[in-house]
Amino acid sequence: PPGTSTAPDGGLRIGGCPVTELAARHGTPALFIDERALRDRAGRYADGLAARRPDSMAAFASKAFPCTAVYRLLAEEGLGVDVASGGELALALAGGTDPAKVIVHGNAKTEDYLRAAVEAGAGLVVIDNFDDIDRLEHLMARTHGAGGRTQGVLVRVTPDIRPDTHEAVSTGQRGSKFGLLPPQAREAIARLRGSARLRLDGLHVHIGSQILDTEPFVRAVAAVAELGRFPVYDLGGGLGARYTYDDRPPTVEAYLDALTAAVDALLPAGARLIIEPGRSMVAEAGVSLYRVVTVKRAGGETMVAVDGGMGDNLEVALYGQRFEAAVATRVHRTSGGPGELCRVVGPHCESGDVLSAGVHLQDPRPGDLIAVPVTGAYTYSLANNYNAACRPPVVFCRDGRSRPVVRRETHADLMRRDLP
Ligand code: LLP
Repeated sequence: PPGTSTAPDGGLRIGGCPVTELAARHGTPALFIDERALRDRAGRYADGLAARRPDSMAAFASKAFPCTAVYRLLAEEGLGVDVASGGELALALAGGTDPAKVIVHGNAKTEDYLRAAVEAGAGLVVIDNFDDIDRLEHLMARTHGAGGRTQGVLVRVTPDIRPDTHEAVSTGQRGSKFGLLPPQAREAIARLRGSARLRLDGLHVHIGSQILDTEPFVRAVAAVAELGRFPVYDLGGGLGARYTYDDRPPTVEAYLDALTAAVDALLPAGARLIIEPGRSMVAEAGVSLYRVVTVKRAGGETMVAVDGGMGDNLEVALYGQRFEAAVATRVHRTSGGPGELCRVVGPHCESGDVLSAGVHLQDPRPGDLIAVPVTGAYTYSLANNYNAACRPPVVFCRDGRSRPVVRRETHADLMRRDLP
């Protein structure tokens, strides 16, 4: 799988580190990030976009992996950041993100969040509703008085496009809670044009996530083009990752080609272009390692129960996302045929607690290490404490060295907020 290689003994490596060593050193379950794979991906986005549209910015949609080490790494690579809450804003700033490169999102931005964004000097606030305009106007009037400072804003447009993806991660359709349909977007644009303190820089559109085709992105460009000519267009994120061997997402380059071709054809020549990749930036750099606890054979299927599950990877339970899995110590072992049909399940108290279904594993036994690849996106961010599970550590791996960047949660952490 991406981010991994296989040693002659059939054992998997992540960032050059043998999985057996990683598990011994950092324990399981744990999330390992191939640092070079992540930097490479960031560079392909940032440089690839700049090569196609010189005045542009790739901003990481940080909801996909909001930990300070990731913010720090991507700031080093020159990326901007999309935040969707006051918490993500605080983490981005703590991670060293240049405030001018922060794009502030949210369909329910509180005054506190907006104030924090304005005070930090966030580059752009994305207007999602009319209350955003009112709150921001008041805030600028109060906090910046006659100082003459203006806040750059974009209007988020709901283009009524329904890409072929899971309903819960489709955001641009009519009836979406995000953004404004064209008639309301026009009204917001008119109001902002009359504002003294808010500077309307342009439009934003984001149609959904895990999109495996470039065509819906092109339609989104056409939809914003109809709303007039602006200096800035933020076209969101949404490119899919390759979770299974069957998935064939466009490459970053194919995506950028399609997007910038549409931009060149439909948007003003000098317009500044922003994109917000999340999943496709981090997914393939991550590999989760688990230890097999028990194996149960029932109903023609083998259930391989491991020491983590929906507590550290909610993607399967929430969206039916499919993941591959492998016995990490003998990926290339061929004896025993193609393996038996398995469902990798977790320890949580519900049947939806699945990590990988319909995979063929080679003679899985208690004590084996199971690798689930392509777990870099929305796993850390959706991790939870169901059944008082301790959330796993995050470990960066590079050139055969591993470095924890988030430690494992402890039972003491679980009680930290409890009052006597
Ligand atoms: N920009 C905006 C405004 C967004 O709402 C999102 C994702 C992105 C960019 C990044 O999209 P990406 O490139 O990651 O597809 N919790 C779900 C994913 C929800 C994505 C929501 N918005 C999951 O775990 O699959």
